Amino acid sequence: MSDNNNTPAPEQTGKGKDGKKIVLSGIRATGNLHLGNYYGALNKFVRMQDDYDCRYFVADLHALTTHPDPKMLHENVKDILAEYLAAGLDPEKNTIYVQSDVPEISEMYLLMNMHVGIGELMRTASFKDKARKALGISAPESDSDDDGIEKQIIGNQTNQRVNAGLLTYPTLMAVDILIHHADFVPVGKDQEQHLELTRRFARRFNSFYKTPYFGEPVNFNFGDHSIKVPGLDGSGKMGKSEGNCIYLIDDEKTLRKKVMRAVTDEGPKEPNQEVSEPIRNLFTLMELVSTPDTLEHFKNAYADCSIRYGDLKKQLAEDILKVTLPIRERILDIRSNEEYLSRVVRQGAERAREVAAETLRDVRQIMGIRKI
Ligand code: TRP
Repeated sequence: MSDNNNTPAPEQTGKGKDGKKIVLSGIRATGNLHLGNYYGALNKFVRMQDDYDCRYFVADLHALTTHPDPKMLHENVKDILAEYLAAGLDPEKNTIYVQSDVPEISEMYLLMNMHVGIGELMRTASFKDKARKALGISAPESDSDDDGIEKQIIGNQTNQRVNAGLLTYPTLMAVDILIHHADFVPVGKDQEQHLELTRRFARRFNSFYKTPYFGEPVNFNFGDHSIKVPGLDGSGKMGKSEGNCIYLIDDEKTLRKKVMRAVTDEGPKEPNQEVSEPIRNLFTLMELVSTPDTLEHFKNAYADCSIRYGDLKKQLAEDILKVTLPIRERILDIRSNEEYLSRVVRQGAERAREVAAETLRDVRQIMGIRKI
């Protein structure tokens, strides 16, 4: 399924297997994967697997920051793993593992935290968001409106705590990346700030210990603009917490129903009028799953006011199903084979631990944690 048409030729100068550059990414185990995850991340993972030394993991420790039910968390790890494999990640080509199976990550997280400031962590957008949610505070109207969330956290005396794991989420993510000496980290735009912090921590470590030990990992895109997959509710992106998702695991009936219920508008009133946001979103989805001719047809129909949204949605559902149904079949198949899943992660953990142990050994040595 690898499609390298517009892939820049990877420079074969990396420290990975066969001189390849190292790629690392992960997804938090907090629910089934949706089309946003698929086009934003998973599809990129698959396209990179031939040209890079790729390591992909399920972030179960990161999921703990929002206190999942223990049974659900465990099931979720297996779901995401099955979804990785069903989307086309090959466990022979890639190192596929579960974060908590590599205990070296947790130890290095402790060490790295010694060089991370609580101020910079508190200023991270994702932290502020999650802290507000934990305390039941609504977000300020605009980015420049300071709601003094930092003071509210410190002054908070209720049982609605903002846990320290949430604060140090970026340290753990930096360690996920740095422990592999990754060159590229394919992630969505929402993770850019975490990647920026990762680079900052790497530089800080190097300069504190006067050793050029860590490189500076960057995001990765295939020449095309970074994709933002819209939801079905008329505005914003597709997201688990927005309840506007199409899941890879959705069955035919559920999926059709969701698409047919997607928010639209009253229809174009005059020729060539500007396309409203809900309709633009449906066109964006169509751009991902349908042929250029199909998209063109509906855009023209919008322009000359002959469009019927029912037809548009029917076609969209049809074309989404062409992408997701084969994946769904494979998910169900792979998910029911626990023995296979366990074999995949055992092998992945073994490979990941080999690399991680070496980095951890170096980091301990550099920091002065040495055997007597
Ligand atoms: N923070 C990422 C997310 O929420 C998941 C993640 C954890 C990750 N560790 C990572 C992504 C390391 C890339 C690299 O989607």
